[in-house]
Amino acid sequence: MDILLLLLLICKLLFSLFSQISYASDTITLLNPLHDNGSTLVSQGGTFELGFFSSGSSGNRYVGIWYKNIVVRTVVWVANRDHPVKDNSSRMVVQQDESLVLIGQNQSQILWSTNVSTKVSNPFVQLVDNGNLVIQDGDDNKDDTFLWQSFDYPCDTLLQGMKLGWDSKTGLNRRLIAWKSWDDPSSGDFTWGVELGSNPDIVMWKGNVEYFRTGPYTGNMFNGVYGPTNNPLYYYTFFNTKDEVYFQYTLRNSSVITIIVMNQTLYLRNRLTWIPEAKTWTIYQSLPRDSCDVYNTCGPNGNCVIAGSPICECLEGFVPKSPQQWNAMDWREGCVRSEDWSCGVKDKDGFRKFGSMKLPNTTHSWVNQSMTLEECKSKCLKNCSCTAYSNLDTRDGGSGCSIWGGDLYDLRVIESGQDLYVRVATSDTDGKHGKRKKIILATSVIASLLLVMLLAFCIYMTRKRYKGKTKPRIPMEDKDKCKQEDLELPFFYLVTIVDATNNFSIENKLGEGGFGPVYKGILVDGQEIAIKRLSRSSGQGLKEFRNEVILCAKLQHRNLVKVIGYCMEGDEKMLLYEYMPNKSLDLFLFDFGLARMCGSDQAEGSTSIIVGTHGYMAPEYAIDGLFSTKSDVFSFGVLLLEIVSGKKNRVFTYQAHNHNLIDHAWRLWKEGTPEKLIDACLENSCNIFEVIRFIQISLLCLQHHPDDRPNMTSVIVMLTSENVLPEPKEPGFLIRKFSKEGEQSSNKQTCSSINEVTVSLLDAR
Ligand SMILES: *[C@@H]1O[C@H](CO)[C@@H](O)[C@H](O)[C@H]1NC(C)=O
Ligand SMILES: *[C@@H]1O[C@H](CO)[C@@H](O)[C@H](O)[C@H]1NC(C)=O
Ligand SMILES: *[C@@H]1O[C@H](CO)[C@@H](O)[C@H](O)[C@H]1NC(C)=O
Ligand SMILES: *[C@@H]1O[C@H](CO)[C@@H](O)[C@H](O)[C@H]1NC(C)=O
Ligand SMILES: *[C@@H]1O[C@H](CO)[C@@H](O)[C@H](O)[C@H]1NC(C)=O
Ligand SMILES: *[C@@H]1O[C@H](CO)[C@@H](O)[C@H](O)[C@H]1NC(C)=O
Ligand SMILES: *[C@@H]1O[C@H](CO)[C@@H](O)[C@H](O)[C@H]1NC(C)=O
Ligand SMILES: *[C@@H]1O[C@H](CO)[C@@H](O)[C@H](O)[C@H]1NC(C)=O
Ligand SMILES: *[C@@H]1O[C@H](CO)[C@@H](O)[C@H](O)[C@H]1NC(C)=O
Repeated sequence: MDILLLLLLICKLLFSLFSQISYASDTITLLNPLHDNGSTLVSQGGTFELGFFSSGSSGNRYVGIWYKNIVVRTVVWVANRDHPVKDNSSRMVVQQDESLVLIGQNQSQILWSTNVSTKVSNPFVQLVDNGNLVIQDGDDNKDDTFLWQSFDYPCDTLLQGMKLGWDSKTGLNRRLIAWKSWDDPSSGDFTWGVELGSNPDIVMWKGNVEYFRTGPYTGNMFNGVYGPTNNPLYYYTFFNTKDEVYFQYTLRNSSVITIIVMNQTLYLRNRLTWIPEAKTWTIYQSLPRDSCDVYNTCGPNGNCVIAGSPICECLEGFVPKSPQQWNAMDWREGCVRSEDWSCGVKDKDGFRKFGSMKLPNTTHSWVNQSMTLEECKSKCLKNCSCTAYSNLDTRDGGSGCSIWGGDLYDLRVIESGQDLYVRVATSDTDGKHGKRKKIILATSVIASLLLVMLLAFCIYMTRKRYKGKTKPRIPMEDKDKCKQEDLELPFFYLVTIVDATNNFSIENKLGEGGFGPVYKGILVDGQEIAIKRLSRSSGQGLKEFRNEVILCAKLQHRNLVKVIGYCMEGDEKMLLYEYMPNKSLDLFLFDFGLARMCGSDQAEGSTSIIVGTHGYMAPEYAIDGLFSTKSDVFSFGVLLLEIVSGKKNRVFTYQAHNHNLIDHAWRLWKEGTPEKLIDACLENSCNIFEVIRFIQISLLCLQHHPDDRPNMTSVIVMLTSENVLPEPKEPGFLIRKFSKEGEQSSNKQTCSSINEVTVSLLDAR
């Protein structure tokens, strides 16, 4: 009797011990379900943890996977995202027929299930150390065959090793879908997945509207996404076979934690990197990067040039479909081929080459992997509906053929882009017109000879003049009295930079930006520098470059990468920055928002708009180079005024007066008729008093003295409440203008600042 009792006791002890161990383990078995009482699964290496969690104030319970050792709870996968459990009575069990199910208090109440159709006798569920939750058959000795895996049903996060894309045999489409909001895991309307077609692309959707495409894969990268291909953190692969089409990334150093997350709030696909020292996630890369990245910004056959003003232009050989809308910056209708074109007609049919292009929507394009570019061209010429062609693969000088028919959608100029040949009316395309060609050749040879001589002469003169100086003066094109202006930045000779970068060698390349590559260099005195080399295709002209140099010289801030100097010789335009050791310059630039103002062209490509868009600059920043958070408030004020009035500050002139939008708004405010400013399209649909309130808020933001301007937090309060607002004081630029009339001073300081006011207001980029 006693012995029996003892045996029973030992049994019970062993059982409870066994079950205790099983809770600290990484598996759910038939006997050991997972209860919603604080127990979790932990993967073998201790990286991931699976368990029940609540999100937000709803108290809904979800089963999810998160990083075990990251203090900021980062849920990377949710099982029942669209089937929340209302209480803590549910449990996760593995069943012989349905495998993994989440059941409620009632045995029959199935809340969520994995829908595995194969029946196995001994299934078990395991959380693998890469974050994958898998169902395996315990009687099956093969380790790598999963009956089901969570990696096939991603939520909003792409982990290393997960596949984004299609399994064509089963029809499985793995897509990322953002959370509805930061605390609601249910499926939002922001998705990202592989778009099948002759030349697959990875596409983001905002509801039903296409939002961004990476461009097709051209052998070693996506045509529309720049960034260093030899990234230090990870590399990615794109598989495109008959059975599978998917994107995947692999970390180069597994101790670095980086993930791709869809953010519904910002409509961005972010790559985040965990910084253990700071205990935060930082954004390493965001897509889309700028307005040109947004799908089809410039309409069919329109070309988006981010440095352009405006950003949209028709491809050469095309004209706006509806000029009136186009000129009003409504680019949706796009462009049509000019009427000169005529299919197959000599002198009226040919191709024009566009360099550094993001290839158009490829869904209905036609491809052949073995054709040469010449064959591609003749194939396109033979078919009157063919509108463009390009290489399919850009490696080793290019191979294969892509052909487009119909309108070309979503074009932009981008550093990672390639040559695109677009069919237009042109007379100098092929070699049939021998005589004419010869004449043209002769003329162009003579012309280029003359040009070279002229250039050589110019360079000679320039060098002679600048010899010995470190701060040369660059002639200004402005018509005012200050014919010359000190750019205030040291000038460097091209040879110095060639030496410093070992002739721009690939080892010295730090990365690739929107306007060109960035190199690391070492000057003769040992100083390490970073050099941004503006590519010729960047579309950034001399004028924009000069603007940037002037601004960089003025924009010295402790959070900014310091600009050391510039180089401008012949075709070469370069900016020299101080080199940031330890971190990649890209990484550094993404950490500091302000750095974008000056430096982040390398990484984002959107800076020049900000830097160059003078209409938004606060006076103290434009004139004295002082920059503070209140300068942002000023810019916000301009923006708000533009929204309300539907007019651009820098192009707006009010009839007879030479006023800009701010002056005009201020005058109307003083006259007590601010409602005159409101855009006619708004008038019928808005609450006039609310809009007048907005005008008042923007005038408060635009006040001359930075201390008078509210901070952004107060602006938000003002915008959302109905408090009584203070009376605005005179806005920025007015005072400066009046004092200019009054002063009549001739010292250099005034001279140059007036000059800059002129630049600021009138110098359209
Ligand atoms: C379940 O929820 C109830 C009410 O919220 C709470 O009293 C109870 O302790 C919870 N049970 C467990 C096991 O967490
Ligand atoms: C959770 O509940 C199960 C079943 O009631 C029990 O065996 C287990 O010890 C509990 N775990 C915790 C951490 O309370
Ligand atoms: C549980 O099941 C029983 C019988 O199947 C049913 O009567 C009862 O309403 C169920 N309870 C819940 C909470 O679903
Ligand atoms: C399982 O199938 C049901 C019905 O077909 C469906 O509602 C549910 O979303 C599926 N679950 C998963 C995880 O696919
Ligand atoms: C991987 O990263 C860790 C932490 O950043 C670093 O200490 C380690 O040296 C790196 N390993 C390699 C091989 O680069
Ligand atoms: C999206 O961005 C917002 C604002 O930065 C942040 O609060 C939120 O947590 C982000 N959501 C995700 C899923 O990363
Ligand atoms: C191309 O455009 C069509 C609609 O015109 C769209 O359905 C498709 O997703 C687009 N494909 C890509 C790769 O952007
Ligand atoms: C691709 O081009 C090659 C060379 O011109 C040709 O032999 C082949 O048949 C083409 N393939 C297809 C599918 O058109
Ligand atoms: C001509 O091109 C169009 C568009 O790409 C295509 O639909 C059509 O089949 C082509 N015709 C021939 C004869 O190749």
